[in-house]
Amino acid sequence: MKAALSLALLGATSVWAAHDLSGVKRVTNVPGLSNKFIVEVAAASDIPSKRALGTPHEVLYRSLRERKIGFSVHQEYDVPDIFVGAAVTLTDAESVADILKTEGVLAIRPIHSYARPVPVSSKQCAPGDAGVPDSESTHLASGVAKLHAMGITGKGVKIGILDTGIDYTHPSLGAGFGAGFKVAGGYDLVGDAYTGANDPVPDSDPLDQCAGHGTHVAGIIGCNPGNPFNISGVAYDATLYAYRIFGCAGSVNDDVIVDALLKGVKDGVDILSLSLGGPSGWTEGTGSVVASRIAKSGRIVTIAAGNEGSSGSWYTSSPGNGLDVISVASADNTVIPLQSLTVEGATHAPIVYYSALPLKVNGTLPLYAVSNDTAVVDDACNPLPASTPDLSKFVVLIRRGTCSFVSKLDNVAKFGAQTFLIYDNGAGFAGIEVGKYKAVMIQAEDGVFLGKQLAAGTAVSVSFPQTGGATEIPAPTGGLVSDFTTYGPTNDFYFKPAITAYGGNILSTIPVPLGSWALESGTSMATPFMAGSAALLFSVKGKSASVGRAARALFESTSMPISTSHTDGGPYQTATQQGTGLVNVYDAVFATTVLSPAELIVNDTAHFAGRQKFNVKNTGRKVKTYTLSHVPAGTALTVTAGSIFPAKGPVPLSTDYASVSFNQNKFTLFPGQTHTVVATIKPPTGADPKTFPVYSGFIYATSGAERVHATYLGLAASLKDKQVVDNTDAMFGVRIPVVLDATGAPQGAAANYTFVGQDSPVLLWRQAFGSAAVRLDLVSANTTLKGSLNARAPLLFSFGHGHDGGGSFAKVPTLGALVSMEYLPRNDEAQSLQNTVAISNTYANGTKIPNGAYKVLLRALKVTGDPKNAADYESWLSPVIGFAA
Ligand SMILES: *[C@@H]1O[C@H](CO)[C@@H](O)[C@H](O)[C@H]1NC(C)=O
Ligand SMILES: *[C@@H]1O[C@H](CO)[C@@H](O)[C@H](O)[C@H]1NC(C)=O
Ligand SMILES: *[C@@H]1O[C@H](CO)[C@@H](O)[C@H](O)[C@H]1NC(C)=O
Ligand SMILES: *[C@@H]1O[C@H](CO)[C@@H](O)[C@H](O)[C@H]1NC(C)=O
Ligand SMILES: *[C@@H]1O[C@H](CO)[C@@H](O)[C@H](O)[C@H]1NC(C)=O
Ligand SMILES: *[C@@H]1O[C@H](CO)[C@@H](O)[C@H](O)[C@H]1NC(C)=O
Ligand SMILES: *[C@@H]1O[C@H](CO)[C@@H](O)[C@H](O)[C@H]1NC(C)=O
Repeated sequence: MKAALSLALLGATSVWAAHDLSGVKRVTNVPGLSNKFIVEVAAASDIPSKRALGTPHEVLYRSLRERKIGFSVHQEYDVPDIFVGAAVTLTDAESVADILKTEGVLAIRPIHSYARPVPVSSKQCAPGDAGVPDSESTHLASGVAKLHAMGITGKGVKIGILDTGIDYTHPSLGAGFGAGFKVAGGYDLVGDAYTGANDPVPDSDPLDQCAGHGTHVAGIIGCNPGNPFNISGVAYDATLYAYRIFGCAGSVNDDVIVDALLKGVKDGVDILSLSLGGPSGWTEGTGSVVASRIAKSGRIVTIAAGNEGSSGSWYTSSPGNGLDVISVASADNTVIPLQSLTVEGATHAPIVYYSALPLKVNGTLPLYAVSNDTAVVDDACNPLPASTPDLSKFVVLIRRGTCSFVSKLDNVAKFGAQTFLIYDNGAGFAGIEVGKYKAVMIQAEDGVFLGKQLAAGTAVSVSFPQTGGATEIPAPTGGLVSDFTTYGPTNDFYFKPAITAYGGNILSTIPVPLGSWALESGTSMATPFMAGSAALLFSVKGKSASVGRAARALFESTSMPISTSHTDGGPYQTATQQGTGLVNVYDAVFATTVLSPAELIVNDTAHFAGRQKFNVKNTGRKVKTYTLSHVPAGTALTVTAGSIFPAKGPVPLSTDYASVSFNQNKFTLFPGQTHTVVATIKPPTGADPKTFPVYSGFIYATSGAERVHATYLGLAASLKDKQVVDNTDAMFGVRIPVVLDATGAPQGAAANYTFVGQDSPVLLWRQAFGSAAVRLDLVSANTTLKGSLNARAPLLFSFGHGHDGGGSFAKVPTLGALVSMEYLPRNDEAQSLQNTVAISNTYANGTKIPNGAYKVLLRALKVTGDPKNAADYESWLSPVIGFAA
C-alpha cells in the first residue's frame, strides 16, 4: 500500500529538478492575488452610535462610496457572534489600505481558492457485487466498536459536512432527504457547473451524484450497518446536513466556504466537518478565521490536515490552520480488504489479488503467460509476435516493469485478451491504474509460481469466486501515519495537525451512479472519522459549549502516540505530522483524568518558552497518584542542510532529542483536585540550526492503567534566520528572482518594453519559505541596494546579516506600489506553483506609469519579522526596465 501511495504522489511531484523557463506562463500567478476580498465589520451591537444609520453593511457601503472606493458586493454575512461582513470585488486592490481605515471595519482579507479534494487513492466497486466481510478494523483499533457495543452511536447530534454534497439516495445513507431522514438538511451553495472561477448557481438540493467525495465522507460518519460490506459509520445515528460547496469539477473559494460555515451555524449543527484545504502555512484567511471562531463558540470543527506530505514541513493546509479547529492527520488502516482467486491444474492456495471486490469473471479460464521468463524486465512493453494465439478465452499473466500497466495491456489486448493478472516485480503489491481493462495485481511469488508452471508445460487455469473470495491482508503500514499527511507546524509555529485518525484504505459509500462503494485514502477520510468521534463524545457528555471547547484537548491528551515503524527501532513520528497521536475515542469519552492544555508550544529560540505549564485534574471517584514521564519524538530536520529548501517528505528525523524535567515527578490527587505541572523543556543540543530542527515529544501523566499526555513542539533555531526568497539557480538553472522578457528569456542588461502584445516583463520568484508580507514597488533606475539578495551567491547562506541597515531600502524612495501580497505560502517544487507577476504599465492603483527607466524592488518579510522594520525584509532589485508604452 505504501508503494501505491508513493506512486500516486510521485506522479505529481517528481524529484527536485531544474524546470524549463519556457514552461513559465506569462500570467500573474500568486495565491490570493485578485481584487476579491472579504471585509469584516463590527456587528451593529458593537457600534451603537451607528445603529441609526442602518445595518453594518449599509454603513460600510456608504462610507466606501464616500471615500470613492469602487466595489461590488457578491455575498453578505451576518451572524453577529461569529462573523459580520461582505465579500466584495474592488475596482482597485490598493484601496485595501483605505478600507481598513473605515470606521467599523475590523479586517479585510483576500479570497483564497481551494482545489476540489482528490482522494490519494481510490478503488471503485461496481454495484451489485458481493460484499467484503470487513472486520471494521478502524473501529476496533480506535475504541469506536466498544462505544457502538454500548449503544453509543451519535443519536441526536447534528453534523454539517462541507463537501461535494451527499448522495442521500444511497440505501445505506437513509435513501431520502429532509426531516426524518439521516440527511436531514443542507443546501447546494454552488450548483453542478460551479468551478470556483464562475458564479455559483445555488439551489436547495445538495445531491452529489457526479463527484462522490462528499458521499464517501458522509459514509465514514453515517453509513448504516446491515449493508453488504458489514461496515458502519463512526456515528451512524447522527443527523447529517450536507453543504454542497463544490461543483462536479474545479475549486471553491473562501466566500462560499464562509457562507456554508455560517449556514451550518444557523441550522444549529453541533459539528462541522471539512475535508478540504490547500497549502498555506498561515492561520490567517477568512475561512480559517471563521472556522476557528465557530469552534471557539463551542461547536466542534474538524478539518483535513492536507495530503501534501511529500512536500515536507511548514506546509499546513487552510482552513485547517484555524486556531481552534481540529486539523486531522491520517493513519493507514490496519488491514486491506482484498479478494482471492483459485488455481486449478496445479496445487496452490488461493491467490490474493488487489481489489476490494471480486473481478467479474465467470467460470474457470485457462492461463497464458506472455513470457516464460519469470525474470523478464519489460514484459509486454513491445508489440507481441504475430504468432501469438487468440487470447480471448484466456487470463493473461504479465510481469510488472519498465512500461506503464496500460501500455502492456494495450499490447496484449490486440490479441483479444480481456482479463489480466499482473504480477509484482518487487516494486510493491498495490492497487494499480489499468484504464478500461479488467486487470489486477498479484504478488511476485504467486506470479512466479504460475509462470514456472506454464513454462514447464502445465495447463493451469484460474477462477474468480464471486462470493467467499474475500480476505483481509495486514497492511504493512497499518496504524502508522499515512505518508501523504501534510507536515506542520504553521510558519508562526502553531501546532498543526492536531491529531491523527484513520484515513488510509477506508471503505465507504460513494454515489449510487458511480458504484455505491469504494476504498479511498486521504486526510479527507480521517476528518469525518474525527467528526464522528466528536459526535460520540457529545452523545455521552451532552452537547454543551463547554464540552465542545474542551473536546480537542480531551481527544489529544488521550490519543496514542505513533511510532515511525512497527519494529520499535525507529523514533516516534514527529508531532509535526501526527499531532498528538492516533485518536482513541473510548478513552477520550471515558477518561477520568483531564489534561489541558494538551499542546505545549515552546516556539523558536528567539521566542523560547521552555517553561511550560499544564493542568491535570482527577475527575474520577478514587484518589490517584500520577507519575510524570517523557517520551521524545523524532526531531524533524525540516530544511536540507547546505540549502535553503525544505526537506521533502518523508522528512528526515534525528534522535537528537529535547530533555524535559518537572517541578515534581509524582503527585497525588483526590477526586476533583487539580495539579499544575511545570515542565522545563531543553532543546536538543546537537541539532544543526541550519536544518531548522523541530523537536517534539510527549509528557505522560500515568496513574495505574490510565495515561494521558501533553505534546510539546519547539524549534532549535530562530525563524527569523530562515531565508524566505529563493535566490538560487536550483529550480530553473538560472538565478531567480528573474525578469523574463517578451521572449520568455531572462532579462540581463537594461531593456525597454512597449507593453503592446507580449512585449512586457514578467517577474518570476519563489518563496523558499512563507512570508506574511511581500511587496513589489517601482523605484528609480539609479537605485542600488546593499546587502540585497542579488549580491548573494547561489546556495550560500548568510543568516542574519542579509541587511546591514546601512543601505536599506527604507532610505530609498519608492515611486509606487505594483503589487502587495499577504501571507504567501512557500512554493512547492512543482513548476505550476511558482510565483509570477505580469508587470503592466500601471501602478496597483490603476494610475499609468510615466514612460522612463525604472527598477522593480521585491521585498519579503521574514517570519516573525516586524513589518515596520526594513531590516526584517529580504529584498531584491531587478535590472533596469524601460517603460516605452
Ligand atoms: C460484521 O461486523 C461485526 C463487527 O461490527 C462482526 O462482529 C461480525 O462478525 C461481522 N460479520 C461478518 C459476516 O463478517
Ligand atoms: C456471468 O454470468 C452471469 C449469469 O449467467 C451473467 O449475467 C453475466 O453477464 C456474466 N458475466 C460476464 C462478465 O460474462
Ligand atoms: C512457454 O512454454 C510452454 C511450454 O514449453 C510453451 O507451450 C509456450 O508456447 C511458451 N510460451 C511462450 C510465450 O513462449
Ligand atoms: C512564536 O513567537 C512568535 C514571535 O513572538 C509569535 O509571533 C508567534 O505567535 C509565536 N507562536 C505561537 C504559536 O505562540
Ligand atoms: C530605451 O529607451 C530609451 C528612450 O527611448 C533609450 O534612451 C534607451 O537607449 C533604450 N534602452 C534600451 C536598452 O534599448
Ligand atoms: C536618481 O534618479 C532620480 C530620477 O528618477 C533623480 O531624481 C535622482 O536625483 C537620482 N539620484 C541620483 C543619486 O542620481
Ligand atoms: C497611484 O499611485 C501612484 C504611485 O504611488 C501615485 O503617484 C498616484 O497619485 C496614485 N493615484 C491615485 C489616483 O491615487
